[in-house]
Amino acid sequence: MPDEESQHRHILTFNFRQGRNKPRHDEAFASLWPRYGLEWAPGEGRIDFAKLFGREAPLVLEIGSGNGEAAAAMGAADRDRDLLAVEVYPQGIADLMDRAEERGLTNLRIYQGDALPLLWEALAPESLDEVRVYFPDPWPKKRHHKRRIIQPEHVRTLSGLLRPGGVFHCATDIADYADQMLEVLTAEPTLENTAEDFAPRPDHRPVTKFERRGVKAGREIFDLLFRKR
Ligand SMILES: C[S@@+](CC[C@H](N)C(=O)[O-])C[C@H]1O[C@@H](n2cnc3c(N)ncnc32)[C@H](O)[C@@H]1O
Repeated sequence: MPDEESQHRHILTFNFRQGRNKPRHDEAFASLWPRYGLEWAPGEGRIDFAKLFGREAPLVLEIGSGNGEAAAAMGAADRDRDLLAVEVYPQGIADLMDRAEERGLTNLRIYQGDALPLLWEALAPESLDEVRVYFPDPWPKKRHHKRRIIQPEHVRTLSGLLRPGGVFHCATDIADYADQMLEVLTAEPTLENTAEDFAPRPDHRPVTKFERRGVKAGREIFDLLFRKR
């Protein structure tokens, strides 16, 4: 875990987008945030997930859930596990809440904010069953590569949160980021690759908005499936 000072001044892995809420987004927050929202702020320490979900169940973390296509579909297909989706972008969270309500999900909570402080502080070591990072911001310019979320320091933190045997699943349509993911995940000694290099696309991962964009632009899609040793 970084020291307290660097936690307060860490490099952000996302861009603040100025998008305005439409009325339907405000309505979703008004009616559904009490059900799906996780109220937590840096400095508040560990979260009691058994209390939050009202049961003891394996916990899955998705970082950067976007408009929630994967979170809602995967949460609905896998109701025996609880899912914590983390996203900074409010309109995306509103969409996810609408999707969750349509499917009657009770196994989803959403944290609105930067995932990193949550990782450092709120989650217990070896408490996660799976970590998902789908189509993370690619930060294409070389000088911005330090903003990429899949980098050694964050992967080490995330792996520390996975239980032995837990799954670390990433996907991207950006070839040089895919190579970076493969290099960084392979170099993390507490993780092992379940495939030779890139994994076949698992059937349970639905197509998301950013994946569609990549496919439309003619880019290849890469999945990486690692397991905690
Ligand atoms: C390119 S989008 C992909 C969204 C979605 N996974 C998909 O496949 O359509 C990446 C998302 O990750 C979010 N994100 C990036 N860094 C984050 C962080 N540290 N904490 C929470 N969300 C983050 C961004 O706000 C953005 O919505």
